Amino acid sequence: MFINFWYPAIESTELTDTPVKVRMLGQDFVLWRDDAGTACCVSNTCTHRGGSLGDGKVVNGCIQCPYHGWRFDGDGQCTAIPSLGPNPTIPGRTRIDAYPVQEIYGLAFCFLGDLPEEERPPIMPIKECGQEGWAHTIQTYQFDINFQRSIENGIDPAHNEFVHDTHGYEGNWEDYRTPEVIPETTEWGTGFGEWIKAPPLPEGAMKDASGRDEDAMIWVGTGHEGAASLWTFIHPTEAMHIHQYMYECPIDEHHVRVWLINLRNFLPDAKHDETVMARNEYVVLQDRDVLEELHPVETPPTNDKESFMPADLCIGHYRERLKEWERRGWRIDSKTVTANERRVAYAIPSPERRKHKGWVLDSIPLCAADEAAAEESGAELDQAAGI
Ligand code: FES
Ligand SMILES: [Fe+2]
Repeated sequence: MFINFWYPAIESTELTDTPVKVRMLGQDFVLWRDDAGTACCVSNTCTHRGGSLGDGKVVNGCIQCPYHGWRFDGDGQCTAIPSLGPNPTIPGRTRIDAYPVQEIYGLAFCFLGDLPEEERPPIMPIKECGQEGWAHTIQTYQFDINFQRSIENGIDPAHNEFVHDTHGYEGNWEDYRTPEVIPETTEWGTGFGEWIKAPPLPEGAMKDASGRDEDAMIWVGTGHEGAASLWTFIHPTEAMHIHQYMYECPIDEHHVRVWLINLRNFLPDAKHDETVMARNEYVVLQDRDVLEELHPVETPPTNDKESFMPADLCIGHYRERLKEWERRGWRIDSKTVTANERRVAYAIPSPERRKHKGWVLDSIPLCAADEAAAEESGAELDQAAGI
């Protein structure tokens, strides 16, 4: 799992002045709206004695801990310590990590990391949003799947033939072969497009709208943006476009929450939403059934533990990107976190950590940071040994 990306936490409509506890990247956060209606997200662990803030309540726009009533505002500042009496001096180190929140596309995205604003990877944009002629639906799921496995499945053109009878022929097509994958890279992602032969749409509104020849080839494009977002464009005909945006949030290494925003430029009436969503769900659950059984659950640490084929090229690119982000120190050292789970409360570092010293909670261990630290301590040992 990676820090320094925007992750979807909750649908905007669910965000009120009642706190909601959300688990992301293996840590707990609490979200609420303050008195001005601004969406707030802070680490769930109280810096007094580790109370679970999400089990408290919102008072005067601040989250109040259920244990001794300390309050924290949306910037993470402690605003009340009742045991000190009225008008106390509140020590700076009581602050908790607070995370930038952006509400867009019906979701509240949290920036879980410490990068300053100008260096942050963007939220995967939906360019059709607000454009006329596009109808949209939103669906959400939670699966027992590692997020990387899920993203890799999205950019894997070879599984469609076998997993989805809606897209392929279940292996009953003798001339089947995946088209060549020609990856196109962007600053934060890699994708590709290809023409494929797909079975006709089932009888009903979508088929009527398409007017597609039974044997016509369809164009599909797909790619990832950042660590956990995915786009898939399906053009059953030149004029009929389905654009899907999948925003994933790793709950932990073995569970993922997914929001699927589907845009279509046909059947604009909302009465067709159900048909579209049912078809999406049918496909998504087919992926789930395969992905939940993968062994090992997590992608192996090196590619030689799998056999790569040309159709896996985009997956290879994605893994290279993840390595690059790991080298920047963005990968969570989940092994250490899990080993210390009951003894250490960690926080994902927030942007404020770059401005202030003296935080109560330890910053979550990060892979590259640990390696660098190991090298440093190795160098210290070397120095001590006179090498
Ligand atoms: S643990 Fe939160 S106020 Fe004491
Ligand atoms: Fe699939």
